[in-house]
Amino acid sequence: MDLEPVAGTIGAEVKGVDLAGPLRDDLAEGLRKALGEHLVLFFRDQQLDVASQKRLTGAFGELMAVPYVEPLADEPYIVAVLKEAGETGISVFGGAWHSDFSFLPRPPGGSVLLGVEVPPFGGDTLWANQIIAYETLPDDLKAVVDGRGAVHVGAPYGVKHAPASDLRLSRSIHIQRGDPEADREVVHPAVRTHPWTGRKALFLNPIYTTRLEGMSAEDSRPLLQRLYEHAVRPEFTCRFRWTPGAVAIWDNRATLHYAINDYDGQRRLMYRTTFAGEEPY
Ligand SMILES: [Fe+2]
Repeated sequence: MDLEPVAGTIGAEVKGVDLAGPLRDDLAEGLRKALGEHLVLFFRDQQLDVASQKRLTGAFGELMAVPYVEPLADEPYIVAVLKEAGETGISVFGGAWHSDFSFLPRPPGGSVLLGVEVPPFGGDTLWANQIIAYETLPDDLKAVVDGRGAVHVGAPYGVKHAPASDLRLSRSIHIQRGDPEADREVVHPAVRTHPWTGRKALFLNPIYTTRLEGMSAEDSRPLLQRLYEHAVRPEFTCRFRWTPGAVAIWDNRATLHYAINDYDGQRRLMYRTTFAGEEPY
């Protein structure tokens, strides 16, 4: 197994590994170690079927069904992330900086994404390293987040913070909305510890964090704005250009990601699986 970093602070391409083959214990262990270190792993030209994608995902944590997003008909653990060529001028799934489902009491530990049909260019994905983001915070912002909780709400899926009903979303991903349960406030530490490495990461979510604990939304806003600007500085990011058969495995505890919506007129289909995490601490 060969690891080649793709950027200065996050992401590595893994070479010489066939993910569809049997996942020996030492390979699984090596991949977990590499993910803990690089936070996103990339692979090219893999022949993953649904069974092998689920098996691969299970090597990083318990396979997890995600809420609010409809899975494949016979595969509760697989979400088809699809935008059809005819769906133009819409917002896409994941088209803002976020980590996945941070409003859950136990947010996912990470995900595996397989490129099935990808445009020849466009539709890249970005990731940002939240460990470096935390370590490089200016002192005044560090003082704000250290030892403080942040409130997360499943805003897009709830009632109180629901997006405007005229927001044009993909027809190809079925997302359940209007669930009052998604309005529930869940408090997680604004700085969490990664269970695999003990490293501390900033854990705030531009989509789901509504405020800092002990502060109003209004008072939190300018602080969160500064924290988010810092969290996604280009120096902390990497960008992946998809090819058919490419696989990305990312850590959802210590990264943010962003799906770039710049491929109107072209069909893009990805298969996504998710593994469980723990209650952030
Ligand atoms: Fe996402």
